[in-house]
Amino acid sequence: MQDAPFQSQSIALCPSSALLNSGLAVPFDVQYGGQTCLGFAVRYADKVYAYLNRCSHVPMEMDYQPNRFFDMTGHWIMCATHGAQYDPRTGRCRSGPCRGALVPIATTEVGDMVYWHTAYNLKPIPF
Ligand code: FES
Repeated sequence: MQDAPFQSQSIALCPSSALLNSGLAVPFDVQYGGQTCLGFAVRYADKVYAYLNRCSHVPMEMDYQPNRFFDMTGHWIMCATHGAQYDPRTGRCRSGPCRGALVPIATTEVGDMVYWHTAYNLKPIPF
């Protein structure tokens, strides 16, 4: 017998106004690979993007101050530990000691709300 197909859930994250272009991120808890981790959502060039807060170089959180991920130019997500830079639109490495891309988390913006979407490897924290 086959497992039931995975069905993604949409989870309300924050009002749209909480995310400004190249501004502070909104963090949220996710279960990734059975562990509780942090995700973060940012807005860049008017679109919302979200990733697991885990550098591809060493699996550490990346913000250099709470919820601050963008470098001084406002164009790159930068890891505070060794300076890896990632493209906020794709999570791909731009420079530094990355070992791959960031783990993306799907988002949508409907009306004035931002939602993140579960995936087979990204689940909400059970209550
Ligand atoms: S841990 Fe992020 S660059 Fe090394």
